[in-house]
Amino acid sequence: MGEEKRWALITGASSGIGTELARVFAERGYSLLLTARREERLTALAAELRAKHGIAPETLVFDLEDPAATQALFAAVEAKGIALHTLVNNAGFGLRGRFAELPYDQQVAMVELNVSVPLKLSRLFLPGMIERRQGGILNVASTAAFQAGPKMAVYYATKAFVLSLSEALHEEVRRHGLAVTALCPGPVPTEFSERASLQMTRLVKMRFMTLSAEEVARQGVAGYERGKAIVIPGVVNKLGAWGAQIGPRAAARAIAGKLQG
Ligand SMILES: NC(=O)c1ccc[n+]([C@@H]2O[C@H](COP(=O)([O-])OP(=O)(O)OC[C@H]3O[C@@H](n4cnc5c(N)ncnc54)[C@H](OP(=O)(O)O)[C@@H]3O)[C@@H](O)[C@H]2O)c1
Repeated sequence: MGEEKRWALITGASSGIGTELARVFAERGYSLLLTARREERLTALAAELRAKHGIAPETLVFDLEDPAATQALFAAVEAKGIALHTLVNNAGFGLRGRFAELPYDQQVAMVELNVSVPLKLSRLFLPGMIERRQGGILNVASTAAFQAGPKMAVYYATKAFVLSLSEALHEEVRRHGLAVTALCPGPVPTEFSERASLQMTRLVKMRFMTLSAEEVARQGVAGYERGKAIVIPGVVNKLGAWGAQIGPRAAARAIAGKLQG
């Protein structure tokens, strides 16, 4: 890449969509900062990308459910003297079950990781990007963002927040030459479904809605580099998101609830 390194920080790089996003950004010539809790996974990915692309990814181990972690992560990037080009807010998890029955602590932790972390990291890194007039943010939302989701109420609400924040920031920063993109995948086979207890749901069994993490990452990075506000990989998922917006809200949330069954 010559002297002008484009640094991308990817949260949740140890698995699934985050790992594939790291592979695509590496292919596109970015230098990488990889973060998650599982250090061995990050180290193995860094070694793979070093061998394949001749880059030297940095690994940063943080538990982002800790409310103090975002500030510490920001400070760690600053301490390396890195001017971040691209922030990828990907780390997240879901929980399936009834709101009144799911563990309180886990629901609050989900809001911390899915909502507060992208909010805080965006607020920390965006001013520098605006000043340098380059780069932007790729937020991993979900098609869950387009309607309410009975039996995954909090998860759907977190993704609605991410989509709304992304779209607003997209408008605010485009005049500075920056891109903010919300990547909204439908079902993707990753470790997500295990943690969310989704394995037996209708949604996960709907193979025609499912895309690989690699395909989702490719479309996400391509859309981000073109400065798109929203990327929804897959025709069926696009139609679903569109239907949820133009159809009756009651029908959209009823269908989402059925798919979670
Ligand atoms: N899979 C799907 O069907 C799907 C669909 C739409 C949207 N999404 C979204 O895509 C994103 C990535 O999910 P995925 O499917 O790739 O799931 P995944 O395979 O479970 O990956 C989740 C990533 O988040 C990291 N993470 C989880 N808790 C963390 C914590 N406390 N601190 C730091 N990192 C943490 C994990 O790393 P460690 O465990 O090593 O910390 C892992 O790298 C999420 O935002 C998810 O909501 C997924």
